[in-house]
Amino acid sequence: MNAPVANLSVNSLEAHWMPFTANKDFKAEPRLIVKSEGVYAWDHKGGKVIDGSSGLFCVPAGHGRKEIADAVHNALLTNDYCSPFGSGQPTSFTLAQMVSNILPDPINHVFFVNSGSEAIDTALKIAMAYHRAKGDGQRTRFVSRERAYHGVNIGGVSLSGMVKNRETFSGVMPNVVCMRHTWNPEERFVRGQPESGIEMADDLQRFCETYGGSTIAAVFVEPVAGSTGCLVPPKGYLERLREICDEHGILLVFDEVITGFGRCGAPFASQLFGVTPDIMTMAKALTNGSQPMGAVAVQDFVYDGVMNASPDAAIEFFHGYTYSGHPAACAAGVATQQIYIDENLFEKAADMSEYFLDGIFSLRDLDIISDIRGIGMMAGVDLKTKGAPGSRGGGVQKRLFWNGMHVKFTGDCGIVAPPFVSDKSHIDEMIEKLRKTLEEEQAAS
Ligand SMILES: Cc1ncc(COP(=O)(O)O)c(C=O)c1O
Repeated sequence: MNAPVANLSVNSLEAHWMPFTANKDFKAEPRLIVKSEGVYAWDHKGGKVIDGSSGLFCVPAGHGRKEIADAVHNALLTNDYCSPFGSGQPTSFTLAQMVSNILPDPINHVFFVNSGSEAIDTALKIAMAYHRAKGDGQRTRFVSRERAYHGVNIGGVSLSGMVKNRETFSGVMPNVVCMRHTWNPEERFVRGQPESGIEMADDLQRFCETYGGSTIAAVFVEPVAGSTGCLVPPKGYLERLREICDEHGILLVFDEVITGFGRCGAPFASQLFGVTPDIMTMAKALTNGSQPMGAVAVQDFVYDGVMNASPDAAIEFFHGYTYSGHPAACAAGVATQQIYIDENLFEKAADMSEYFLDGIFSLRDLDIISDIRGIGMMAGVDLKTKGAPGSRGGGVQKRLFWNGMHVKFTGDCGIVAPPFVSDKSHIDEMIEKLRKTLEEEQAAS
């Protein structure tokens, strides 16, 4: 397939200030994607790149899905926009029902937003609104975790456990404390859940003893920390968090922005681990990455708590975005969820997981790798640091791209998360390209 070749110069790229990107470096050596289809993309020089991270964990059904494009096209022609405040349009209700159908049971109410970051800010506000409605407004403290990524809005940055995302922005929300992260350097190359580490959940118990459990509104965790390299929770850890939350009336929030929609081998990580949160955030694969959209889903008691605190004709929750439940995004969401059902994509991902993880863990003989973790269709591959932390990861990411593979890197960790439509030959291609590139990097150092 021939991809259109863009005519680029450094100057023509200056107007766009790129997100989470080394702008100067990128503009000196641009790597633009101009076409994508299935598990592949094509760069502006015509090179073919296999998508080893499903974009940013967004595209399990593969790129260029006609069903989704048609649904969006149709939505824009028939009903391009209507105010979501005090009016509505049918597809947001359809999508909420479809999502609710695959959520763990008492989670039955879905609030739409436009990104994972907005989902996190919305979840914070729902937690505040719920406690206030109950007359528990003194719960103003939030608990998060080191190495957490909860997006980039002020709420998400306040909950963040990543130094680079926090240190520039000192004026974030007060009253957030971080539990320890769950990565144990003594226990490396673990596939699935580590055996040890449950006691790290007792950090929450210590906060309850230090600050008073009745001052804590909610605990936010990614069931599997995604952006900092697929940190899988130790056995019993999430269950213990659930117990402590129940004991102290604290809301448990799972941020499933990456783990939602089949990534870990079940529709949501919550179901895989058998732990049901009170509130769940999601985004990314909700629309297969085709339209910006996120959502917050809550248990009945949270919804009812907020609803029942206001008189019948009053607005119960003073929150929402101009584009909450946008018709085009909802159409993309409905088409995406239908593809997941029709193609059994969550089951397909669960079935492919063993093969994928076998491939990823086969790389452990490479001296450059210091750890590998994995679960479902996601794995974190830590490279030994060379120079400043993160500088090796950036270089390897570029080298990998020119060798024909896209992988999302955070610092020196590559996070591999193939589309669920990948077959074994695609997984083999990814593993081969990773090995070749890491061997080149080893030889060059
Ligand atoms: C767990 C988690 N929460 C929130 C976000 C933020 O999502 P967005 O980039 O759509 O704002 C991300 C993004 O990667 C994420 O991984």
